[in-house]
Amino acid sequence: MNQSPHTNEATRQVEYERWLGGTSPAAFAIRWFMGPGQWFANTPLLKLPENLKLDATARVLDLGSGRGWLMRMLDDQLGADTPPVGLDFSREALRLARRDERNPRREAGLVQGSATALPFRAGAFNLILCGHLVKHLDDVDLTGLMLEIRRVLEPGGLALLWEFGPTGNPRLDAWNARVLSTGVRGPRLRATETLKRFARDAGFPFVRDANLRPFLLPPIPRASILFGVPPEGYHGPQ
Ligand SMILES: C[S@@+](CC[C@H](N)C(=O)[O-])C[C@H]1O[C@@H](n2cnc3c(N)ncnc32)[C@H](O)[C@@H]1O
Repeated sequence: MNQSPHTNEATRQVEYERWLGGTSPAAFAIRWFMGPGQWFANTPLLKLPENLKLDATARVLDLGSGRGWLMRMLDDQLGADTPPVGLDFSREALRLARRDERNPRREAGLVQGSATALPFRAGAFNLILCGHLVKHLDDVDLTGLMLEIRRVLEPGGLALLWEFGPTGNPRLDAWNARVLSTGVRGPRLRATETLKRFARDAGFPFVRDANLRPFLLPPIPRASILFGVPPEGYHGPQ
């Protein structure tokens, strides 16, 4: 009997709680990847302020923020006027993120919630990051996520999304999907072109291949897109 790899968000959440709070080698590995391992798992993101010419006016939302290392590194680099906000559906991830907080006077906002139903007002952010999350979403939920990003992103703001992608070799892709199923089942590996289509279908007029690389670990290629809505009155190339 064929079994659908997809089960719903609640199941994914339970799997994450178990994985992140566990004592197995795989649990240590995921906690490391979300912490000091960010240098390897999200290597090109460390140059984001330089690459996107970000400054202290950035209002950052990190979707699936895990231990919050990436947004904190960004915040340290930018010294933004507004502290970044991280959203994650896992209470264990948020507990680890709070434990890691080094500067209690400059607390990042940590919010428990679903990336497909964001508890934020329209236009609240001008930079939205979403790393290694959408492999857990089926097509309906990915559309929901894109529409939510569209709603909470200010015109003129940018969103950057990256995820493990296919290699083009079916046997290698099957192996990678198996490796990525260690703690949470049924990952979907989508190509950059597919992610671009979802962004365009959600009404983003500006959509580009972000071409983020290199990611040092794990050695699985990433697909990445940069997208947004130009500010009102913008008539330049899109
Ligand atoms: C693989 S981790 C990636 C963490 C970090 N963004 C990175 O790139 O290293 C995925 C994170 O997304 C969270 N997550 C997965 N699906 C989610 C959803 N539908 N809503 C909110 N958070 C979700 C998980 O709890 C986990 O912390």
